[in-house]
Amino acid sequence: MNLSQPGIIALAPVDGVTDAAFRQMTDEIGKPDVMYTEFVTTEGLFRGRETLLHALDKHKTKTPIIAQFFGPHPKFYRYAFFVAAELGYAGIDVNMGCPDTNIVKKGGGAALLLDLPRAKEIIKVLLESRIEWKNGKRLVDTDLPENMQQKVISMCHSREGGNPVSNQADLPISVKTRIGYHSTQVNEVIPFLIDAGVDRIALHGRTFDARYSGRADWTEIAKANEFTKGTDVSLWGNGDVNSISDAEDKMKTYGVDGVLIARAAFGNPWIFKEYQPTFEERKKAMLYHAQLFLQYRPDLDLRPMRKHLSWYCKGMEGSARLRDHLMKVSTLEDLKKILESV
Ligand SMILES: Cc1cc2nc3c(=O)[nH]c(=O)nc-3n(C[C@H](O)[C@H](O)[C@H](O)COP(=O)(O)O)c2cc1C
Repeated sequence: MNLSQPGIIALAPVDGVTDAAFRQMTDEIGKPDVMYTEFVTTEGLFRGRETLLHALDKHKTKTPIIAQFFGPHPKFYRYAFFVAAELGYAGIDVNMGCPDTNIVKKGGGAALLLDLPRAKEIIKVLLESRIEWKNGKRLVDTDLPENMQQKVISMCHSREGGNPVSNQADLPISVKTRIGYHSTQVNEVIPFLIDAGVDRIALHGRTFDARYSGRADWTEIAKANEFTKGTDVSLWGNGDVNSISDAEDKMKTYGVDGVLIARAAFGNPWIFKEYQPTFEERKKAMLYHAQLFLQYRPDLDLRPMRKHLSWYCKGMEGSARLRDHLMKVSTLEDLKKILESV
């Protein structure tokens, strides 16, 4: 899949949701054109926090996956680039839209909308890293802590023949952002990002102030898209898309090259092929997702899966009691028993 073509449908990055197991489910059942990881702190990589690398674990697939990172310090993005490239990711994305207070008050996520020189520095570090990668520099040539280097290299060799080191010399550098901080800034931010040298912009049609409330403003997204005309930069829109036909309508109406879907894909990997699963298919998916989760995270139990199990019940008749039971699940045995009883 050439991601510079128009018509792209993507699974959006969602912290705490689009982990390796969720992506494998979505890929196997729905087959979006591309998927994003959850965001990963760039500074955490530098601090040697190995558990962060779980977010970058991945199954072997031909579906491109973009690794997303956040953080205010440009210098740490060099590690992000080399880790993602080594793991065979199809692109590196900078989070410039997260409204989380802890992230914003340190100057990352949406705060970058108010500090464009810093955003420019981040993009510059990524563009420089890409040249270094092209010239043969590898993760082992960086000063990322030894334990992180070893862990990344072991991840490359661990899963079904491993994740090939990226053979794409020109890994796309992208940004996912919002239409503005307090109010729309597309007239300023979009030309700025194009000029800074990004290959792609994913734009959520809400401001930081709006967080996730109200409706995404697709006219602002269309306005942003106008700036990319005549450039090599693609623009993907995001916000409130709830089906593939809706995504296709949005691409046609607002002219964007692609669309990202986040919340409508929770518990619904079938959305990407516009399929309504049966009750039995949902049950099978819950069990398979839980098994995958434990394969990726043998150190955990199924508590983090409870939200997913509850989402799979959306639209299932008489699901309230089933949900109550699922919210107490910790082991596969618990889950199997509950699913067998309905
Ligand atoms: C719980 C939650 C976590 C999110 N985490 C991320 C993230 O890690 N990176 C990111 O760029 N956006 C993140 N987002 C924003 C989504 O990618 C998306 O922009 C937003 O939900 C709007 O799309 P939707 O209407 O399809 O849900 C998150 C959203 C939610 C609800």
